[in-house]
Amino acid sequence: MKLCLVLIAAVTVHGCEKEHSFRKHDRHIKRQNPNNSFPPVLDHNERILVDSFDSSSLATWSQYYSHKRNVAGESSTVPQWTANRWAKHGFTTRLDSYHVFLNYPVHQSLQLQHANGSNHYVSLEEEVLKLDETTGEPNRVPVYHGYSFSGNASAEFVYVGRGSQLDFQRLKNLGVKLEGNIALAKHGGPFRGLKVKNAQEFGMIGAVIFTDPGDDRNMTEANGFKAYPDGPARNPSSVQRGSVLFLSTYPGDPTTPGYPSKEGSSRMEKETVPDIPSIPISWIEAKPLLESLNGHGLTSQKVNRTNWIGAIPNAKYSSGPAPGVTLSLSNMMEDKTTQIWNTIGIINGTNQDEVVIVGNHHDAWMIGGAADPHSGSAIFIELSKAFGKLLKTGWKPKRTIVLASWDAEEYGLVGSTEWVEEYIPWLKDSAISYLNIDVGIAGTIPDFSATPDLHALTLSIARKVIWPHGTHRTLYDVWEEKTGEIGALGAQSDYTSFVHRGGIASIDMGTTRAPLDPIYHTHSNFDSYHWMEKFADPGFVLHKAVGQYLTLYLYHLADDAMLPLEPANYGPEMRAYFEELELTVASANAEAAVDIVPLKNAISAFEDAAQHFNTMRDSAVKSNSSVALKELNRKARDFGRGFISQGGLPGRPFYQHLIFAPGIDTGYAPVTFPGITEAVVAGNLTLATEFVEKTAEAVLAAARVLNT
Ligand SMILES: *[C@@H]1O[C@H](CO)[C@@H](O)[C@H](O)[C@H]1NC(C)=O
Ligand SMILES: *[C@@H]1O[C@H](CO)[C@@H](O)[C@H](O)[C@H]1NC(C)=O
Ligand SMILES: *[C@@H]1O[C@H](CO)[C@@H](O)[C@H](O)[C@H]1NC(C)=O
Ligand SMILES: *[C@@H]1O[C@H](CO)[C@@H](O)[C@H](O)[C@H]1NC(C)=O
Ligand SMILES: *[C@@H]1O[C@H](CO)[C@@H](O)[C@H](O)[C@H]1NC(C)=O
Ligand SMILES: *[C@@H]1O[C@H](CO)[C@@H](O)[C@H](O)[C@H]1NC(C)=O
Ligand SMILES: *[C@@H]1O[C@H](CO)[C@@H](O)[C@H](O)[C@H]1NC(C)=O
Ligand SMILES: *[C@@H]1O[C@H](CO)[C@@H](O)[C@H](O)[C@H]1NC(C)=O
Ligand SMILES: [Zn+2]
Repeated sequence: MKLCLVLIAAVTVHGCEKEHSFRKHDRHIKRQNPNNSFPPVLDHNERILVDSFDSSSLATWSQYYSHKRNVAGESSTVPQWTANRWAKHGFTTRLDSYHVFLNYPVHQSLQLQHANGSNHYVSLEEEVLKLDETTGEPNRVPVYHGYSFSGNASAEFVYVGRGSQLDFQRLKNLGVKLEGNIALAKHGGPFRGLKVKNAQEFGMIGAVIFTDPGDDRNMTEANGFKAYPDGPARNPSSVQRGSVLFLSTYPGDPTTPGYPSKEGSSRMEKETVPDIPSIPISWIEAKPLLESLNGHGLTSQKVNRTNWIGAIPNAKYSSGPAPGVTLSLSNMMEDKTTQIWNTIGIINGTNQDEVVIVGNHHDAWMIGGAADPHSGSAIFIELSKAFGKLLKTGWKPKRTIVLASWDAEEYGLVGSTEWVEEYIPWLKDSAISYLNIDVGIAGTIPDFSATPDLHALTLSIARKVIWPHGTHRTLYDVWEEKTGEIGALGAQSDYTSFVHRGGIASIDMGTTRAPLDPIYHTHSNFDSYHWMEKFADPGFVLHKAVGQYLTLYLYHLADDAMLPLEPANYGPEMRAYFEELELTVASANAEAAVDIVPLKNAISAFEDAAQHFNTMRDSAVKSNSSVALKELNRKARDFGRGFISQGGLPGRPFYQHLIFAPGIDTGYAPVTFPGITEAVVAGNLTLATEFVEKTAEAVLAAARVLNT
């Protein structure tokens, strides 16, 4: 809903179908003198960590993980194997288990019936490839939506674009009959669960979501590239599985909002899962469906919505419905309350009240997952090995390191959310940072989203890592050339609860596709070991660089005498968010009704406090006072808790960070000053004013931590 008001630039699809709204955040970072010495100069411990990384080991770990079926909650085999590996390198490990609601596919089918009565069965199978062995596993995972509703629907259908609230509203305003019909939506834009939620709210009785090659940018068969496995373009049969949880309301187990799901925990009525059935399909299977709508209902020109038209040959992207042309959708799921397992590995630091957590998930939608999540899983084994080498030299970190391999991320960040809900008091007292890697390798562009206090570290570590492609380039050089931006955090992966419940400094890191990089088949059987080895990262050299980056990042947070967090960088970031808010308020003609000056004043007060903090810290460093430094480190750790408001955002008490949140109708992508912005956009100016006060108070609370 914010899309129409502020600059949300290039939307790319990657990660667990991550949708980044890149902003030019980088312009706010105070760049230190760029030090372009090449190769980067590393100290003794950094050298041990970096040299420990080995591409052939990474390939071995990737091969192990990508050949196991490990759908959320199915087995403790993979998490236990991970624990054993970490333990070998000196981590104290355990499995933290929860009992959560999940569901699994029993029967899925889809049928198109033409007006003349003839039937067309839509295939829900991805192609089995001789060259890619895991695509043909007898126990391969069917295509389905996690947390989808069990039921049948049969009706005429309407193409609804990306399925945002505005898409549905536009169709309704133009008189297209939505009620009682089935929605046909394409991927991109809102998180898929919100497409289903919107369809449901507009009275529709089922949803079919397809992949569109129009979102593949330049890497298409139409541009002359061969399709996987013969080339890097999309295999036309690829289907994107995924969760349809209402993620922007709250993540985690839908039956235990706000508290951990232990065996015997009381369970609530589910509010965050759909009550209409849905199913995902490939573009090649969507083609006859769209074709049958050609010339019926509204033309795409008449609908006139951005991103409405895709690139499926012969499809005109008319809205429909076409009289007498129907879909019969059947989606039968088995509901279960079942065990999940998070692998936890710990190295105690000397300061027990300072903890750095590093996480990745281990559940995957298919036998495969070489990118999502196992590029991260493989890197974690090498990371544990690198720290094991350092431990053998007698090193002990100043701060406690916690490694986490989460279960059930794919269903809606379930393993990490339940864990944070269990440990929130301890985390709020002691967590320095949370570092996340999920889709570590899906392309050739380094990709970061982070809270502002981590931006400086994000860039300084990037200068320490050699990029494997090109010559004499660091990861920083490639990042600066290709993006030069650090995103804000929405709800794309397991950092969500740490940021939005805990107010904990966090980063999500990985790589994303350049326009001509091989297609990353999100949540499809083709996200496989074979694809990774042949197309995405031959030689596992990118795995190595990204792993070295994460390892050095963790090392500095865990061991630098002065915590490498920069609270002051929230200042310019919040100023930029404030300018966007001014535009939002102006375009809603709400300047008279909503006075945002108190927020502006609070940002100024924060900047003063951050400057004071920096002065104190400089002098503590100069005088080498470990007592003063300890106190200043505590402030750097704690100030972010100020941004958390106990009541949370309107209608969604889980999301408590008042500086950013996943957008209510984006799910993944972030909105800044969300309490105010979303109320203004929704036209509730009383509520907006209330949130100006709350947000200003939160900014002042953060400032007080730095000041006192
Ligand atoms: C750049 O890094 C090298 C090696 O660490 C160091 O000797 C040099 O002083 C640095 N230069 C600047 C401008 O920071
Ligand atoms: C029914 O209509 C469809 C779509 O127009 C067409 O492809 C098919 O050949 C027709 N079948 C018969 C039996 O006429
Ligand atoms: C739903 O449809 C499937 C397949 O068409 C059928 O087997 C099943 O009995 C139906 N279930 C209900 C509850 O109608
Ligand atoms: C991708 O396609 C666009 C539009 O056709 C073109 O302008 C651009 O140069 C292409 N980019 C690359 C890297 O080929
Ligand atoms: C489409 O919408 C844009 C703005 O949203 C408007 O400027 C343009 O005139 C519209 N085009 C048509 C053909 O209605
Ligand atoms: C780490 O510290 C915790 C908390 O003090 C303690 O219970 C645990 O035994 C320690 N683990 C090791 C391996 O020293
Ligand atoms: C700073 O203090 C620490 C102990 O607190 C000591 O190990 C270190 O040598 C001191 N550094 C300098 C430059 O004096
Ligand atoms: C505005 O928000 C307040 C607080 O949530 C609510 O009580 C009120 O009903 C809302 N007003 C409108 C017009 O939606
Ligand atoms: Zn993932």
